[in-house]
Amino acid sequence: MQIHSSIPELRAALRERGRIAFVPTMGNLHAGHIALMQEARAHGDAVVASIFVNRLQFGPNDDFDRYPRTFDADCAQLAAAGVDLLFAPGEQELYPEPQAYHVEPPASQNQLDGEFRPGHFRGVATVVLKLFNIVQPQVALFGKKDYQQLMVLRNMSRQLALPIAIVGGETVRAADGLALSSRNGYLSPGERAEAPRLHRLLQRIATAVAAGDADFARLEADAAAELDRNGWRTDYVALRRQADLQPPRSPDDGPLVVLAASRLGSARLIDNVEIPACDGR
Ligand code: PAF
Repeated sequence: MQIHSSIPELRAALRERGRIAFVPTMGNLHAGHIALMQEARAHGDAVVASIFVNRLQFGPNDDFDRYPRTFDADCAQLAAAGVDLLFAPGEQELYPEPQAYHVEPPASQNQLDGEFRPGHFRGVATVVLKLFNIVQPQVALFGKKDYQQLMVLRNMSRQLALPIAIVGGETVRAADGLALSSRNGYLSPGERAEAPRLHRLLQRIATAVAAGDADFARLEADAAAELDRNGWRTDYVALRRQADLQPPRSPDDGPLVVLAASRLGSARLIDNVEIPACDGR
């Protein structure tokens, strides 16, 4: 695997590589990232990954400074997964001057994580567009665990007519259902044992909705209350339309997805479960 930290060197290395499938990451890789790398192989002649902890998408009280940096272990995993090139720029390379031009997602995304992490999606969209301009891939892959991020990036690509197909990869889970995430590393052993509750509750809601329960407000409130009774501090539990993440206008306004964000100890965990449209919905 080639590793490049400079934009001109990466561009030179990417010449005549054919179709490029790109997986941007912030490092501290786990099996969810590796599944994306493997899926990328089916989409391109060359698989390019990036590792860059993007200051722009962290708020002042977020975990930018303590975000785990595990570069050597990440490289070993990427090489083993057959990644062809890794772009790992320093901050000076990507932001040699303060970034003054930004991609501003629409106000309709100032909800869910957009409400609780102001400026987050602006930072994500800006760095991803910049990485796209550097790597110039034909396909880019992002995990569905960050469901709203995937939608923001898909809409950005479509609205700005980027010649890049955005592919969503399925969430990879531990055996007890917890979605793999770099932030799981912040959990104490006791919190780690509690953490699968988030996915269990989302699944319970998905099952109830698929069986015809249309009292969405109660389902959301009950789940949030159960989390908070068990030591979580919940930002939201929300049933939304998969298509645009807006609240459904009626119970059959599907297909739907249930999303949640909640804090357990010093970790803020997010997860979601898609609810397929079934008969009558
Ligand atoms: O999902 C992530 O790891 C980051 O938000 C991304 C897409 C690499 C942008 O920094």
